[in-house]
Amino acid sequence: MKTAITEMFGIEHPIIQGGMHFVGLAEMAAAVSNAGGLGIITGLTQKTPDDLANEIARCRDMTERPFGVNLTFLPTVNAPDYPGYVRAIIEGGVTVVETAGNNPQAVLPYLKDAGIRVIHKCTSVRHALKAQSIGCDAVSVDGFECGGHPGEDDVPNFILLPRAADELEIPFVSSGGMADGRSLVASLAFGAAGMNMGTRFIATREAPVHDNVKQAILAASELDTRLVMRPLRNTERVLNNAAVERLLEKERELGADLKFEDIIEEVAGVYPSIMKEGEMDRGAWSCGMVAGLVYDIPTCQELIERIMRQASEIIGRMDALRRA
Ligand SMILES: Cc1cc2nc3c(=O)[nH]c(=O)nc-3n(C[C@H](O)[C@H](O)[C@H](O)COP(=O)(O)O)c2cc1C
Repeated sequence: MKTAITEMFGIEHPIIQGGMHFVGLAEMAAAVSNAGGLGIITGLTQKTPDDLANEIARCRDMTERPFGVNLTFLPTVNAPDYPGYVRAIIEGGVTVVETAGNNPQAVLPYLKDAGIRVIHKCTSVRHALKAQSIGCDAVSVDGFECGGHPGEDDVPNFILLPRAADELEIPFVSSGGMADGRSLVASLAFGAAGMNMGTRFIATREAPVHDNVKQAILAASELDTRLVMRPLRNTERVLNNAAVERLLEKERELGADLKFEDIIEEVAGVYPSIMKEGEMDRGAWSCGMVAGLVYDIPTCQELIERIMRQASEIIGRMDALRRA
């Protein structure tokens, strides 16, 4: 399938694996790219720019196809060495960067000068328009359903995607709640040129995480995620567990007085224990409502082939309806 996104990024299928902390390692990105999608290494999971340079080199050893790097701009006190990460990306010959979090304006000129395509992930039409106005090549429009940070507007993709299509001139992909061929056809119907998936890609054979994480997603239904950190205006959709219930109890008790320090134990530095060691109750970890649509743990190749086959069957059925 050819779309503005496959052409822009030089990929076979219009499917992107979004950056995911402690999931988006070289193994994940290479598996998605080898299956014809766009795999993405998560920049900040690598402690230093040198570590990122190594991860990019490892990925290049595993795939000859294009892959990207995610750069997330976080509201932190000690900002990571973003110029260093940008240098590692440019020197590593990466062709696509997914930016997320805050406005990527500060790094954009360096990436553009190096000929890198930038897709900015955002959760509202106004932020998508801003990304377009500062020169991003594409946007990833992340609806309320998404795993991770859905923003504070709570607009689900049935509204957000057609709204984005009505306003944007640059291509965009849907993100949040995407799982299968139905998601892809629906995204195309809404005007997107492809789709981005997070949670669905964790439940694949190649995802470099503990099996407990994959089994937790498999066991979860669409009712099992929770929104945390809303009082801090840093809302995150996570899978419910004992730590999340404790965190939500603190949010209820402290109300508007809640500070980040009150919940630090449940949210800070918990990803390695969860993703590597499989300690599922260690803290809050991002997961989308789409967990309810995850029924198996295929390889990335099987998953992407199945999505494309199902999408083309649906399109064929629609065409038959039109002719009837
Ligand atoms: C475990 C996990 C970690 C994530 N970490 C990041 C991250 O570090 N940076 C980022 O931009 N997005 C991150 N995301 C969001 C994904 O890139 C993607 O936008 C989101 O998962 C899409 O929603 P879905 O899970 O319904 O497919 C994460 C998502 C998950 C599930």
